[in-house]
Amino acid sequence: MTTATSTRAILLTGASGGIGRSCALSLAAKGFHVYAGVRTVTPDLDATGITQLTLDVTDSDSVEAAAEQVAKHQDGQGLYAVINNAGVLVQGPTELVPIDEWHRQFEVNVHGPVRVIQQFLPLLRTGGGRIVNVSAASARVGFPFLGPIGASKAALESYSESLRVELAPWRIPVSIVQLGAMRTEIFAKSAAAAEAALAQADPRRVALYNRQLAAFDQATAGQRYAPVEVAATAITRAVEARRPRPLYVAGSDARLAVWLSRIPARLRDSVFQHALGLSGIEPVPAA
Ligand SMILES: NC(=O)c1ccc[n+]([C@@H]2O[C@H](COP(=O)([O-])OP(=O)(O)OC[C@H]3O[C@@H](n4cnc5c(N)ncnc54)[C@H](OP(=O)(O)O)[C@@H]3O)[C@@H](O)[C@H]2O)c1
Repeated sequence: MTTATSTRAILLTGASGGIGRSCALSLAAKGFHVYAGVRTVTPDLDATGITQLTLDVTDSDSVEAAAEQVAKHQDGQGLYAVINNAGVLVQGPTELVPIDEWHRQFEVNVHGPVRVIQQFLPLLRTGGGRIVNVSAASARVGFPFLGPIGASKAALESYSESLRVELAPWRIPVSIVQLGAMRTEIFAKSAAAAEAALAQADPRRVALYNRQLAAFDQATAGQRYAPVEVAATAITRAVEARRPRPLYVAGSDARLAVWLSRIPARLRDSVFQHALGLSGIEPVPAA
């Protein structure tokens, strides 16, 4: 990376994943210069207008080095946007999710964006830029067994709300893009980690949840996933808007979650229990 770019430049984290790659390609096609944060450089992002940048959001040195590289390359021009897209999904019944997995969930999904924002804010100030934080429908309503991901995205959203007011004096808008289920590898990776955790857990405790987890799996087997372009379109809208909105919602299930968040909590709980086949399952007596 030696030459400065005069086009509007964006830092995007998690660019190697399903949604990140679609965003990177779509923004580059629209004429933005995309600094694509990846943990491992990939030929999938070899395209005009994309510069890959090694960036692990859980590693402060890596984030700092990435910010220095972008500053050098931008040569005083700053950034038009930072998109915090990198994320992981941790799932499972609370008592069966190892505490290290809870830490990983928050390290990537919450502390990651904080690190990135801390390091890239000077570039955003210079460039008159904006921040886009990628969230999930689970931030809004408490889906059973999705406590870790839901809690992390709720934290990200709460943080984004504070940040928007904090950064108002510099006119740096902060948008949340709340996504429903999109067809990416995140679910397979999450299921593999959850299975590994269950294999390590106390079998007597696992047995307590067998029927609920089987019902949940059966009820969600028919889950529809939107194509990643739906997410990329919403994120691109937040990037291109003249006056970015605080919240963008993408996907029919995310819109349903907005509605569910507005009904009384007890009613919502029973909707979940019925829809997920959890009602009527008697608890297994503790051994
Ligand atoms: N897919 C959905 O249904 C859905 C729904 C709601 C919200 N979201 C959110 O959308 C975002 C993108 O998810 P996705 O579905 O595209 O998942 P994905 O395909 O699994 O991609 C996740 C991306 O995050 C990166 N990442 C993970 N840990 C990282 C770290 N420590 N440092 C830097 N990058 C890291 C991954 O890099 P590696 O390839 O190196 O692991 C990958 O590029 C996430 O924030 C997710 O929570 C997704």
